[in-house]
Amino acid sequence: MKTIDELLAEGVGGKRVFVRADLNVPLDGTTITDDGRIRAVLPTVARLAEAGARVVVASHLGRPKGAPEPAFSLAPAAARLGELLGADVAFATDTVGDSARAVVAGLADGRVAVIENLRFNPGETSKDDAERGAFADQLAALADLYVGDGFGAVHRKHASVVDLPARLPHAAGGLIATEVAVLKKLTEDVRRPYAVVLGGAKVSDKLGVIDHLLEKADRILIGGGMLFTFLRAQGHEIGSSLVQEDQIPAVQEYLKRADERGVEFVLPVDVLVAPEFPDLRTKAPAHPDTVAADAIPAGKMGLDIGPGTGRLYASKLLDAGTVFWNGPMGVFEHPDYAEGTRAVAQALVDSPGFSVVGGGDSAAAVRILGFDENAFGHISTGGGASLEYLEGKTLPGLAALED
Ligand code: 3PG
Repeated sequence: MKTIDELLAEGVGGKRVFVRADLNVPLDGTTITDDGRIRAVLPTVARLAEAGARVVVASHLGRPKGAPEPAFSLAPAAARLGELLGADVAFATDTVGDSARAVVAGLADGRVAVIENLRFNPGETSKDDAERGAFADQLAALADLYVGDGFGAVHRKHASVVDLPARLPHAAGGLIATEVAVLKKLTEDVRRPYAVVLGGAKVSDKLGVIDHLLEKADRILIGGGMLFTFLRAQGHEIGSSLVQEDQIPAVQEYLKRADERGVEFVLPVDVLVAPEFPDLRTKAPAHPDTVAADAIPAGKMGLDIGPGTGRLYASKLLDAGTVFWNGPMGVFEHPDYAEGTRAVAQALVDSPGFSVVGGGDSAAAVRILGFDENAFGHISTGGGASLEYLEGKTLPGLAALED
């Protein structure tokens, strides 16, 4: 994999360099609530611009369905990139149309432009190779060189991630290099005990990684919406909590395998419950109750791990040599349900081991909850991407940068 250092050493002055970033930041209207992903790719953009390249930054944002949707515009991200760079950033209101061509043609050496959300074009995510290829041809016409630095999207077989680097001389950006180096530490030569904390809403998103981690980890701690499927699999009542009934046999199988392999599977001892999901707009007080995890009353919905579980999980992370955490413990966007996620984040900070926060939601959560990013070993910009890496899968966006 060619590095950005090698590319810079060859000289990029006057060249149009397409940087595939992941600027998929959380937005409240047009306000960015966590700009971590923009800051993460900043060094790559700045180094190219300082070296005199004409930098064309591109990304997806959200999941629009192949046509423009104002709510998913990259305009706020482009404006933030300009603020962070301390330079004007031009913005194209389309991906490969008149605006993009004119903006790129007007770029002076050392200047930066952002083109509109790649997923506004159906070719970006198409399953049809020819359709993706046609879009990649149009993107390729905007640039001379390609730098892949959108780590969060390397698990996607999308035009700008896979087909475009096949059409242009390419290199990996600094963010991808760092992310891969950290993930290697989690797969090769891991310092033990190796503890993994998994949260998030759906068990189905985590099946692959649990399967793989049963061979690698010493402890697996479960939180988030998916914990209720685990409680259900153990035969407990879960009230009106989120559950994936169809995943129960798989979960039972994992619990059995963990037992056989001596992997400690840790489930909550208490949870916070309320009659309904909280209002995340008004953040009106939700007045949750704390109940034992095996005694959730009928009609009550579990929305966070409880304080006893927070303490239990912290104790399980304290002597870990390595901790990987993916997925919030509860509905942390509401202050009444943020304490479980805060307790786990604090435990990672306190753990003397190498701690990695993997992924979009958990990475945003630690920053939104006010933690110092430098207190963690690494905060990944990739949620699904880091999970798929840990599953041992070949990530198409990394493979595309290899040759
Ligand atoms: C992410 O948020 O994990 C990445 O930006 C990828 O987004 P996607 O899951 O919509 O492809």
